[in-house]
Amino acid sequence: MTSFDLDQTTVETAYARWAPIYDAICGPVMLTGRRAAALAARRIGGKILEVGVGTGLSFGDYDATNDVTGIDLSAPMLDKAMAKMATGRFPHVKAVYQMDAHRMTFADATFDCVVAQFVITLVENPEQVLSECQRVLKPGGRIILVNHLYSETGVSAAIERWAAKRTRKMGLRPEFPFARLQAWADRSGDAILVERRKLAPFGVYTLVSFERELPRVA
Ligand SMILES: C[S@@+](CC[C@H](N)C(=O)[O-])C[C@H]1O[C@@H](n2cnc3c(N)ncnc32)[C@H](O)[C@@H]1O
Repeated sequence: MTSFDLDQTTVETAYARWAPIYDAICGPVMLTGRRAAALAARRIGGKILEVGVGTGLSFGDYDATNDVTGIDLSAPMLDKAMAKMATGRFPHVKAVYQMDAHRMTFADATFDCVVAQFVITLVENPEQVLSECQRVLKPGGRIILVNHLYSETGVSAAIERWAAKRTRKMGLRPEFPFARLQAWADRSGDAILVERRKLAPFGVYTLVSFERELPRVA
């Protein structure tokens, strides 16, 4: 855990507060990132797991051919997601569960795709969550992440480090380097970076995708 990593109690307390206002504030602000990740997942199709599904703002970004499962730590956020499911408008969303992404209860190789929009920088142990995502992913499947990633150099980097300390209690984390994701992939032995791209319009969010390598035939 680095000094900027958020602990679980901070996250749960923060998202209990966010839940009533989340859609109004974070809906429009994070729309492009959320949508780009869901679109990438749709192209893969099959069984999709959305980690940190929150209030289910992405439900409308999938289509009827998808089979979507969501998990989240926060019960108040999931209550909002379940209210959306109850409208009947998202039959492709099969279930949402209150579950910690560090310890998922799904069997190995369950999903074709694991998506996490604006989550990996907030969890207590990002490397453990990535390994869990990889475990529940079928070989050949993909992890798709979207986040604001640390600028690493210059004035933006200094501002992000300053802001990181002040926004921690709000369950936000503006400082997170891409290098940490790549280091996890390098250590994993079977995660290959297949995509890293800044998203329009301002390049504030980055989409990163790792593929779980198929077993090598001897
Ligand atoms: C910034 S919100 C993003 C929600 C949604 N993905 C979106 O794009 O609107 C982060 C979400 O991650 C969830 N979260 C944080 N840590 C988690 C964990 N360890 N396991 C599962 N969900 C977690 C929070 O409860 C919150 O709903």
